[in-house]
Amino acid sequence: MAQEIDAYNEALSSGQYEKPGGLIGKYDNARRFWEDEQLGLYLRPYLERMVARKQNRREKLHIMDIGCGSGDGFEFITSIDKSQSPISQHDSRLITPSTVELYTGVDINDGLVKQAQGTYGNRDNMEFIVSDFNDYPFTEGPPYDVYLANYGTFSHNTDEQTTKILNKLARHSDNGAIIAIDWLGRYSYEWQSLWTRDLKNNQWMDYVISYIYTEDERETQDLTAFALRIVGRAEVQHIYHQAKKMGGGALVLRKLVDRSSFVGRHMDTKQYNPHAQPLRGLVNSLFEPNVSTNLDELMIDYVPMEGFDEVNAYHRELTRWWNYLIACIKALLEKKATPEAPARTPGVVTRALSAMKKTIRSADRIKIGNPRSSLIEPQLGYCLRELEIGLQKGLGCGHGLVAIFEIVK
Ligand SMILES: C[S@@+](CC[C@H](N)C(=O)[O-])C[C@H]1O[C@@H](n2cnc3c(N)ncnc32)[C@H](O)[C@@H]1O
Repeated sequence: MAQEIDAYNEALSSGQYEKPGGLIGKYDNARRFWEDEQLGLYLRPYLERMVARKQNRREKLHIMDIGCGSGDGFEFITSIDKSQSPISQHDSRLITPSTVELYTGVDINDGLVKQAQGTYGNRDNMEFIVSDFNDYPFTEGPPYDVYLANYGTFSHNTDEQTTKILNKLARHSDNGAIIAIDWLGRYSYEWQSLWTRDLKNNQWMDYVISYIYTEDERETQDLTAFALRIVGRAEVQHIYHQAKKMGGGALVLRKLVDRSSFVGRHMDTKQYNPHAQPLRGLVNSLFEPNVSTNLDELMIDYVPMEGFDEVNAYHRELTRWWNYLIACIKALLEKKATPEAPARTPGVVTRALSAMKKTIRSADRIKIGNPRSSLIEPQLGYCLRELEIGLQKGLGCGHGLVAIFEIVK
């Protein structure tokens, strides 16, 4: 655990854990507009049910953020939009800070907890506890409505430790409670050199938080590495079934989904895959105001690894439609004919293309500001994200493999 604490303290003292981020840092645009929002979209149907139930009983929500780090789970949970929000409405949030009765953040790292307290400390409805979550008394006190363990937190754990926590939460929580967890995905293209079919042995990677630095800075830093568990679908299923067997029968796995295929944080470092392309930086650029992105560089050149048919098939499929969408956008911007749609174009691609056509047509008429960087490029970022949401198979091919559980009693 000492290495983990050192590594996060280094990241904290780099200044790159400060908000706001944008093109680089912990809070880069990909985290805010791709990863946070994607997780919110996955969680929203369950949260909407929960919020409606709570409102009927005139109750507020209790949120626990396990491995809360800088307390980001609070901002995350209070920035999810309702599914039915007319554009005329400015307050479209599903959960607002005032509808949270209690947010409890638990983390082992004192420095990160201090940062969280500095950001949120004076709010009555928020508390932060320095503790090892494997020793935390989850079954004491009233249960929470939502448990978050975001951004690879349980990759710090062995599967047995995670199983125990899930089992405790399942037994202690009320009907309808939600548990959202993500691990690092075993088959993310970022670390293709680590792919193996040996599922029997737990697989851990030596992880370095090098991506928050520029390329030049990376060369001169001596950063602490720590072990993180990387998992695929089979391992999550195993953890789930073990937790149920131990007595956590109320646990129901509702969703298992990949997040950040091709845009994980280590794409740009190439640290674990010499073929990786700097797609994270390019996606950050798509979402950044007043910055224009070279769309040719966004084309993916996927290099498969032999022996991983299912994983290669998914990556190839995403590459195919990603590149097709970008080729169409380039043609539309240059006022040329778009490439012919291949047979069996998935609905998500057709919808993305239709949205982009409308955006480009409108942007073309706007003579104020920079419509390419303020309208077209962010929309393209969202459409690429939609492609991932529509095509992913929850195999562990993203930087994160997200599991959403609901308690059914
Ligand atoms: C990848 S970070 C995620 C932080 C945060 N959830 C976020 O949204 O950015 C993992 C966090 O888990 C914490 N952590 C790791 N092992 C822990 C343990 N056994 N008990 C408590 N916290 C732990 C680390 O200190 C770190 O803040």
